Parts: sequence; structure tokens; C-alpha cells
Amino acid sequence: MRLKKRSLNTERKTPPLSQSSAQSGQSRLYSAVTSSSTIRRVDSRNATPDSGLYDVYGAVVVGAGPAGITAVGNLLENRIDRILWVDHAFDGGRVNQYYREVPSNTKAKLFIEFATAVAPFRESASGSPSGDLAKEQRTSEGISGATKSDKLRDLSDKLLDLQRLDQESGCHLRYAADLLLMLTEGLKRTPGVIAQTGQVTSATLHESTATWAIDVSTEGDSPQNITSVQAQRLILCTGSSPIDPPLPYEPGGLKHLHLDTALSPTKLSELLSPLGPTTVAVIGASHSAVLVLWNLANLALTSKPNLKVKWFTRHPLRYAEYEDGFIARDNTGLKGEAAQWARNNLEPETMPDSLISGMITKITYNKGDEESAYREHLSGTSFVVQAIGYHRDPLPTLRTSSGQKIEPLFDHNEGVFHYMKQNASGSIGELAVLPGVYGAGIAFPEKVVDKKYGHEEMNVGFYKFMQAVKKWSKGWKAVAV
Ligand SMILES: Cc1cc2nc3c(=O)[nH]c(=O)nc-3n(C[C@H](O)[C@H](O)[C@H](O)COP(=O)(O)OP(=O)(O)OC[C@H]3O[C@@H](n4cnc5c(N)ncnc54)[C@H](O)[C@@H]3O)c2cc1C
Ligand SMILES: NC(=O)c1ccc[n+]([C@@H]2O[C@H](COP(=O)([O-])OP(=O)(O)OC[C@H]3O[C@@H](n4cnc5c(N)ncnc54)[C@H](OP(=O)(O)O)[C@@H]3O)[C@@H](O)[C@H]2O)c1
Repeated sequence: MRLKKRSLNTERKTPPLSQSSAQSGQSRLYSAVTSSSTIRRVDSRNATPDSGLYDVYGAVVVGAGPAGITAVGNLLENRIDRILWVDHAFDGGRVNQYYREVPSNTKAKLFIEFATAVAPFRESASGSPSGDLAKEQRTSEGISGATKSDKLRDLSDKLLDLQRLDQESGCHLRYAADLLLMLTEGLKRTPGVIAQTGQVTSATLHESTATWAIDVSTEGDSPQNITSVQAQRLILCTGSSPIDPPLPYEPGGLKHLHLDTALSPTKLSELLSPLGPTTVAVIGASHSAVLVLWNLANLALTSKPNLKVKWFTRHPLRYAEYEDGFIARDNTGLKGEAAQWARNNLEPETMPDSLISGMITKITYNKGDEESAYREHLSGTSFVVQAIGYHRDPLPTLRTSSGQKIEPLFDHNEGVFHYMKQNASGSIGELAVLPGVYGAGIAFPEKVVDKKYGHEEMNVGFYKFMQAVKKWSKGWKAVAV
């Protein structure tokens, strides 16, 4: 990726929401229909070579997966505009890039509730910011009750596709991915939002004004090519990726098969089908591991009978439990089709009689005994898939204007970050809130306590991101300027 010089865009820009609502009253949600030909206004008196299209942005949102989409929707809902939205590709994040073939572990209705939870989404979904949906009273409750069918009538085909599914069951994530693409396009056209393809590389905090100078590395030609801006808020929705570290013991010739590939039946078949007899090791026992085992089993039972699997697990399978009014192990337990397949095929009482019994060999061990388990059982294995969790994608480098590197610590209850603030003498001071920086999504989820077992879990999922950001974004307004 190369750095580009910003070219000052002299296109006129629609007034920000805060101005337009002051001019035209609170009931007008959006004053203009947007399109590529929208007339835009730039206040050239304030535009500086380093400012992008606005002198100071209300927020820079990093990432356009479900979390970034949620953040932009909630900023607009809270009447914070002048948003610079940055993503590598604006293609729905990892769900669309890698998991279209994965069955969801959430019910179809939750994707609809996500897509209709804030007015800017409903307007995006309807394709018309000035249409009927825009005239509804803005609420933070999403849609519900008697008004639901009216409000959904105008939603685009993608939302209708999802609506036609059994709402109480899961669905393939391609439906959710298409929804994300649709919302992305709608939000990109919304006044007050500027989308910039690229990577946010660094941000510098000016502590006296609590503003951030944010650097963007852009690639290719885009209308603005913004590379440096000032902003009051920085919202990190940067996502997480599967971990695939070296094993404590690896026999010669063992290849790592990436989890993203193994979660796609199509890619898995393309890779393995041309090969001769193949043994694949799968490590893990949560959602990803079960789906990989299922994909491999389907392949072996259809087109590749010479495929064998060694399944390495250090704990029994855990299932979500549907209690009266809540779900125990809501985030860590198996759900949906994956849970059903696991019950039918992988449990000690079902595995011996399952069609997959001759194909999958289960190897159990205790945490800490990985090396000896691998030494004993990995020989003769061609590939290993590690389904052992995700880690945060790299964050932009953060520092203060005096050059102090900031190591942000996320608060999973409040959605804010803390950092070690230097005191006046330049020595390390105390932990302070990092002004204007917020997180959301799989990298920065809300922490919840399991109501049945009492352990803590990270609340991960489209609708959970929405619930957290709706709560947290009330505090996003309180930024000193
Ligand atoms: C296999 C799998 C299945 C799942 N199934 C479900 C499900 O059924 N239902 C459900 O509700 N949830 C599900 N989830 C959970 C969750 O919805 C997804 O993990 C989702 O992708 C997380 O969204 P995100 O926006 O946090 O991150 P991502 O989707 O990873 O998006 C992050 C975005 O940020 C961009 N980015 C990162 N750093 C920068 C930077 N410095 N500059 C610019 N751009 C940057 C990336 O390019 C990317 O587009 C699933 C998760 C996994 C792993
Ligand atoms: N739509 C879907 O169906 C779907 C599919 C996949 C993922 N997801 C979502 O994506 C997120 C990540 O899920 P995930 O299943 O990939 O990971 P995860 O929930 O983080 O679970 C990782 C698992 O790997 C185990 N593990 C870690 N190191 C191990 C080792 N060395 N040997 C054996 N086991 C090891 C852990 O066991 P310990 O508990 O012992 O540490 C844990 O069970 C979740 O939010 C999930 O809901 C959804």
C-alpha cells in the first residue's frame, strides 16, 4: 500500500446533520436525497491541506464490517456527522470475504433486527433517505410490534430474502453478508459520511484539545484521497482473524490449512479433492472446529472417500442452553445446525454409530498436554487446521503529540480505552481514559456474565454489537472540543 498526497476536493458538500437539523427542525432526518451527483458544500475557509474535506471530523470510523457499519449508523442516529469512514475494501468485512458458506449461529430474525435497529439503516435499506422510512420518528428502539410490517415493506430485496426465511432458524451467512453490502452502500451515500478506501495507519492525540490527527494510507484512485485529518473521535472496529501459531511439535511435511479455507466447503474441496489419500488434523472443539469437521465429513462422504481426520480436543463439546428468557453459554456454546450435527455425530454416545465413525478419530488430552498429544498422533498427517480462536487485527499506531506511544487498554464494560498518561514531568503517570477513542465488534466486544454458570463471556454477534454500541454511543457525544 502506498501513501498518496491528498488532493483537495472542491466538490460542494451537503451541510452536516447538526447544521441542517438546526436549520430545518428535528423532524427532518435527512434533508436531501443523496446520489453520486449530490451537490456538496465544503467550507473552503476552514479547509487546510491536512484537513481532508472538513476542517475537523466528528469521527473517523476504522473498519466496515458489521461493527463499523453499526458505529456509523449509531453516530448518525446520535446526530454526530462529518464522519470519515475508512476500510480496505468496503465489502462487508470477514463475514462476506470468507464466511458466506458458513451456517449462522444466530436466528435469521436477529439479522433483520440488526438491519432495522437505527433510522440510518432503515433509510439505507429502503434506498431512499427521503422516503417514507425517513419520515418516521427517530427512536433508539429499532422496529417492533404493529408498525414492523409497514416499516419493512420498503426494504430492499436483500432484506426481503432474509424475511422469507424461517425467522426462528439460522441461515447461511451469505444472506447476512448481502445485507452488510446493502447497508454499506446506503451509508456511503448518506450526507455527512465520507467513505475512504485505505488503511488508518496512525493517530496522534493533541491532549490540550482532545483532538486526533489521523493518517490514512490510500490505494488507487478514490474521489477524495484523504490522507490526513483532524477528528474528535476515533472508533476502532478493526476486527479479528484466526490464530494459526506454530505447534509445539510438528512432524516434517505438515502443512497448515488456514481456518478461513477450511470453513468454506468450496475452497476445501478445491484444495483436497485433487490429492491422493489425505489425513487432516483439526484442533479445537468450539463452533469453528465443529464446522470444519462437518465440512471434512461431507467431503469424505461424497467425493473424497480417501480422506481421514484426526480431531484433537481438550474439552467436551459445550452447547448453548435455552433457558426461560435467556441463553446460557450464549457465546461459547454450540448453536443451530452445527450443534445438531455435533450431537448426532460427535458425542461419545452417537459417534460409534455415526457414518463418520471410520473417518474421524477423536484424540482427547488435557490443556497443557498439547505437545505430547501431537508427538504421539500427528505423524502421517498432511494438513493441520487450527480452530483455536481469533486475535485482534493490528491497530493503528497511537501516540501523543509529545511522542509518547499509547498502548490502548479496552474496557469491555464501557466501550472506552484507557492509557498510561504521562504526568507533567514526563514520567509515567496514572491510568486515564483515552479521550475520544472507542471500540466495537469482535475485537472490542462487550463483556457479559453468563446468567446460569456465572462465568464471563465476550458478547459477539451482529445484534450484540448493535446493543453494545447503542448503549455506549450515548457517551460518544461527551467529547470536549
Ligand atoms: C466463522 C464465524 C462465523 C460467525 N457467524 C456469526 C453469525 O452467525 N451471527 C453473528 O451475529 N455473528 C457471527 N460471527 C461473529 C461476527 O459477526 C463476525 O466475526 C464479524 O465479522 C465481526 O465483525 P467486525 O466488524 O468486528 O470485524 P470484521 O468483519 O473483521 O471487519 C473489520 C474490518 O476492518 C477493516 N480494517 C481493519 N483494520 C483497518 C485499518 N487499520 N484501516 C482500515 N480498515 C481496517 C478490515 O479490512 C475489515 O473490513 C461469526 C464469526 C466468525 C469468525
Ligand atoms: N456462525 C457460526 O456457526 C460460527 C462459526 C465459527 C465461529 N463463530 C463465532 O466466531 C467466534 C470465534 O469462535 P471459534 O469457535 O472460532 O473460537 P472460540 O470460541 O474462541 O473457541 C476456541 C476454542 O479452541 C480451544 N482451544 C484453544 N487452544 C487449543 C488447543 N491448543 N488445543 C485444543 N483446543 C484449543 C478453546 O478451548 P479452551 O476453552 O479449553 O481454551 C476453545 O474451545 C465466536 O464468537 C463464534 O460464535 C460462529
